[in-house]
Amino acid sequence: DLVYVLNGPNLNLLGMREPEIYGHRTLDDIAAMVEDNAAGHGLRTEFRQTNHEGELVDWLHEAQALGAKAVLLNAAAYTHTSIALLDAIKAITVPVVEVHLSDPSTREEFRHLSYVGMAAAMTVQGHGADSYLIALDAVANGEL
Ligand code: DQA
Repeated sequence: DLVYVLNGPNLNLLGMREPEIYGHRTLDDIAAMVEDNAAGHGLRTEFRQTNHEGELVDWLHEAQALGAKAVLLNAAAYTHTSIALLDAIKAITVPVVEVHLSDPSTREEFRHLSYVGMAAAMTVQGHGADSYLIALDAVANGEL
């Protein structure tokens, strides 16, 4: 089974970007962790990052078209702004897990609203890079 792991804006800078909030791991480190964990569950992953909102929309449609089992989505700041992502998640039948390194609900007020969370099957946040692995375990264990 195929799991899409989609990452939004500024996550390409992980490792150097506000490490006190997001940790020292790079996105490549996280990709390697995720791919390892997925292989252990007999899952394949398609791991991507973009700084462009519409590209995330296109990739959600692609996950549906290719019959993905689930999508892990860290939409980063678009989480809090994007009705287009909310609509895309609602438009597809593939379950989407909202993932965040930090816990936005304990940060600035403007991070408390999550459009992604309104349609996501599940949210995993606040565990650093492990948030991705917890989300993947949930997919593998059929918890969605
Ligand atoms: C984030 C949390 C968002 O609020 C923020 O805009 C990000 C990263 C996280 O993984 O903790 O860019 O999605």
